[in-house]
Order: sequence, then C-alpha cells, then structure tokens
Amino acid sequence: MRGKRQPSLMNSDFPRPSPCRIFSALSSDVDRGFHDLNRDMDPNLVHVFLDKLQRYAAKPDRALLFAEAEGKIIGFATIIDRADAPEGMDKAVVHLLQDYGCGTGLMVLPEFRRRGVARILVQHWGQWAKSCGRQGVWIVTRQMADWYQRYFHYSVLGITVRHGVEKTVLAGDFLNPPVS
Ligand SMILES: CC(C)(COP(=O)(O)OP(=O)(O)OC[C@H]1O[C@@H](n2cnc3c(N)ncnc32)[C@H](O)[C@@H]1OP(=O)(O)O)[C@@H](O)C(=O)NCCC(=O)NCCS
Repeated sequence: MRGKRQPSLMNSDFPRPSPCRIFSALSSDVDRGFHDLNRDMDPNLVHVFLDKLQRYAAKPDRALLFAEAEGKIIGFATIIDRADAPEGMDKAVVHLLQDYGCGTGLMVLPEFRRRGVARILVQHWGQWAKSCGRQGVWIVTRQMADWYQRYFHYSVLGITVRHGVEKTVLAGDFLNPPVS
C-alpha cells in the first residue's frame, strides 16, 4: 500500500484569492480539528465523527482535508480512493465508479460559509483523486444534489436508499471540470 499522499496544495492553482489554507491532515492534527469542528455535529454522533477523522487521517487509501483560517480548522472534506458503489446503481454505473474516488464528507463551519471554502475543498477532492489515477469523484447526498450540479458540474447517476432515506448519487469527471 502506498504511503500517505500529500496533494499539491498551492493556492495559486485556484483563480480566486483563497480564504483559507487546505492541508491533508495527519493523525497528529485530528485532535485540533475535532476540537474546532465538533460543535457543529450532532452531540449523539460526535464519537462517530472522531472515529471517522482518525481513520481518514491514518489510512493510506483515504484523505482527511482540513481548511484552516484565522488559526482554526473551519472545514473538512474526506475522500477515499475506492468505495463500493451504492445499492441500486445499474451495472454501467457500478463499473464506472470503480475508476472514481469517493467523497464521503464535506462541511464548513456556519460562520465561514459562502466564502468559497467548500469550493476549494471540492477542488482538492479532485486533485487527490487525480493523484491516485482516478477519472473523477463520486458522492452521495441527501439535499445538495442541485448544488453539486450547479457549481461543480457533477452529473446525477441515480438514487440510492440508505436507512430508508433516498439519496442522490452524483459524479464529476475530470474531462468536464467546473467553469471558474
Ligand atoms: C454546503 C456547504 C459545504 C457549502 O460550504 P461553503 O463554504 O459555504 O460553500 P462555498 O462558499 O464554497 O460555495 C460555493 C458556491 O455555492 C453557493 N452556496 C453555498 N452554500 C449553498 C447552499 N446551501 N445552497 C445554494 N448555494 C450555496 C455559494 O454562494 C457559492 O456560489 P458563488 O461562488 O457564486 O458565490 C456548507 O453550507 C455546509 O457545510 N453545509 C452543511 C453540510 C453539508 O451540507 N455538506 C454537504 C453535504 S453532501
């Protein structure tokens, strides 16, 4: 298995001035990130959140990306090299997703929203997936399908049902990047 990848994080890669620094977190960064981010989590699920941060920071097949501004961690994104396609996808989609990285979490603290932080985190999903040789990134979302389509040119691949809740499966491929 490869070592932990550090994607190129040059802010000059992006057309607008960056409101934050993005870095690929290591295990030693997790406590600080958890401290700054967990107040926006469901109190009953903070242990699940901490476990997720630890796994994504430690394992070489995935990444925990932190956004930092004003000395604080203000947002995060998680991505995994390969994940099983969601239930309900047709064969062609299952086949396609084998070549895509999977974004599994994205959040920006409320007071830092609408400043372009998520946009940069999603761009880093793409950079990280590309560095793994992937063709794109897929995600599952309950409410943000329109947002991914509008701002990132993700396409809807289907609907999956998880724990009785309908969610949309979307993917962005590197041949169809968003217009900045
Ligand atoms: C969704 C979320 C990640 C967006 O973070 P953000 O840093 O505010 O997003 P950005 O500032 O990068 O927004 C990019 C564009 O989307 C727009 N946008 C942001 N949030 C939006 C929303 N909820 N609805 C519609 N448009 C939105 C912004 O105005 C911006 O457009 P612009 O460049 O034309 O101004 C953030 O609101 C969040 O953490 N929500 C809770 C968790 C969540 O929903 N995560 C995604 C689940 S899959």
